[in-house]
Amino acid sequence: MPLATLTVNAPAKLNLYLKVTGRRPDGYHALDSLFHAIGLYDRVELSDGVASDGKNPVSFTCSDPELAGEDNLVVTAAHKMLERAGGGRTVRIHLEKAIPAGAGLGGGSSDAAAVLTGLNRLWDLGMSTVELCELAAEIGSDVPFFIYGGAAKVTGRGEVVTPVEALTDTWCVLVYPGVRVSTAEVFRRFAGEKPGKMLTQAADASIITPVRGGTPNQPAAENDLQGTACHMEREIALAISALRAAGGEGARMSGSGASVFCLAPSQEAANGIRNRLETMPSWSVWVIPLVRH
Ligand code: C5P
Repeated sequence: MPLATLTVNAPAKLNLYLKVTGRRPDGYHALDSLFHAIGLYDRVELSDGVASDGKNPVSFTCSDPELAGEDNLVVTAAHKMLERAGGGRTVRIHLEKAIPAGAGLGGGSSDAAAVLTGLNRLWDLGMSTVELCELAAEIGSDVPFFIYGGAAKVTGRGEVVTPVEALTDTWCVLVYPGVRVSTAEVFRRFAGEKPGKMLTQAADASIITPVRGGTPNQPAAENDLQGTACHMEREIALAISALRAAGGEGARMSGSGASVFCLAPSQEAANGIRNRLETMPSWSVWVIPLVRH
């Protein structure tokens, strides 16, 4: 039988703003955030029917050996799809990483979503977007967004995804300052530092307006987790300051960090900021468009 293979590009995301609106009974935080896909991609290669060791139906390799363990979310996603597909199937997954891990860019979540959508196609399972999102939410809070991609307002603990129009002709200067921060630890410390902010109602949807209707770097476009993460890793604060000094107005953190970014209305404008940026040796810098997929 010929092998069926499929390669899926898994984009990174930015949080154009991120508000923590409350604390949920399940221990998670309620969020109100605007997610946007950017043109920085991991590559997920799926090969159907490649028997691995005869016992494990999922074999997995990764370009980054540190991420090649069975605890990678792509393996979790594949097992969930195997349960749906019924017995007898096997899959080989190879993951080529370009998105830094633990960086607030959703790389691991995007990879998992790529496995869900990819295996749905490869195995012709006919699962709906809503069904895929349900499985995605079981894997991680950021995974449902990547079933849609593009731009979306995201609420709940991350699983309530409302697609919105993607920004066009918008670029970002993205800095990964070379330090990893644990999402769980950032939320834990945030809750300790700002107990008064907990248990408020979800922010008004109009908060989206300054981001989409005005210039992209409006002051309203903030990240509630930024102060906490900057206290944990000074490099994050340094990278934000460096971007601002280079003309990156409204530079801010994505997700729970450690990546920071500013938006620019053209590639030329973004390149100008990048050229003025004083970087540290441990930092990685990209000029990348915001994308629909
Ligand atoms: O869902 P995910 O596994 O990505 O979340 C990692 C951790 O981040 C959770 O265990 C939780 O401690 C924290 N978190 C949170 N509220 C969210 C998302 C994540 O408190 N909305």
